[in-house]
Amino acid sequence: MNEAATYRPLVGRLAVITGAAGAIGRATARKLATRGATIVGVDHPSADASALEALFESGEALTLLRADVTNESDVKAYVEAALQVTGRIDVFFNNAGIEGAQAPISEYPTEDFVKVFNVNVLGVFLGLKYVLPVMQEQKAGSIINTSSIAGLIGAENMSGYIMSKHAVLGLTRTASLEAAPHGVRVNSVHPGFIDSRMLTDIVHNLGAPDAESLAPSVPMGRLGSVDDIANAVAFLASDDSSYMSGHSLVVDGGKTAG
Ligand SMILES: NC(=O)c1ccc[n+]([C@@H]2O[C@H](COP(=O)([O-])OP(=O)(O)OC[C@H]3O[C@@H](n4cnc5c(N)ncnc54)[C@H](O)[C@@H]3O)[C@@H](O)[C@H]2O)c1
Repeated sequence: MNEAATYRPLVGRLAVITGAAGAIGRATARKLATRGATIVGVDHPSADASALEALFESGEALTLLRADVTNESDVKAYVEAALQVTGRIDVFFNNAGIEGAQAPISEYPTEDFVKVFNVNVLGVFLGLKYVLPVMQEQKAGSIINTSSIAGLIGAENMSGYIMSKHAVLGLTRTASLEAAPHGVRVNSVHPGFIDSRMLTDIVHNLGAPDAESLAPSVPMGRLGSVDDIANAVAFLASDDSSYMSGHSLVVDGGKTAG
């Protein structure tokens, strides 16, 4: 019997995923569904969700909601709509994010810095603000915020993104302290170089030929896959990580070990 048939720790759980139409979001939606969860995917009204929907063709439960995570009334509405599905939110993958501009600080467009803040920090904060009370009332739940190795180290030309992902780490630690007495866990996942549209665009903007050119700089010698991240999120979502909160789970092939 394959893993899908035998290992289903998320049966009966409702998982909300923001940025669900994106590369990491949809891989994680698929992974959590395979492990038994019912999925509520959230993405921006302008996002193309066809690849996500194609992963759920076989009639499994996916509810797709449209919301701008920077808009407080949209966030309130997606949380309320998600609650309509099973009356609970067991897992929240707070994942929507943008890469912003790549330029030295002296040339970094201020409006891009604000935009990155709004999506990657305010969007994550608002998600926490409206999901935490639901989970605290349930006395159970697991939240996973998407940070990055950019939340642990600096990088030239990436000030907006680096700022935002460090902020996600701070929000995770603070939320974990506030939520722990209520039986709710909050952790962050820190992807390294993941083979994806986002990494390819960043690398091109910085003048490198392609994302693969970064592989030799990774101790394990390869880029990560979206499934590497989905597996880590699935672990944090499940009771297999039941004594973990405020943890930063780094998934980077050893990139930040040195
Ligand atoms: N790809 C990587 O190498 C990498 C590495 C580290 C961290 N991350 C982080 O992982 C997360 C997912 O990245 P990805 O690679 O899947 O990128 P992606 O661009 O494929 O997906 C991001 C999703 O977020 C959505 N989104 C953006 N702004 C939004 C808004 N205002 N409201 C609602 N949805 C919005 C987009 O529509 C998109 O579907 C991001 O937080 C990103 O910063 C990615």
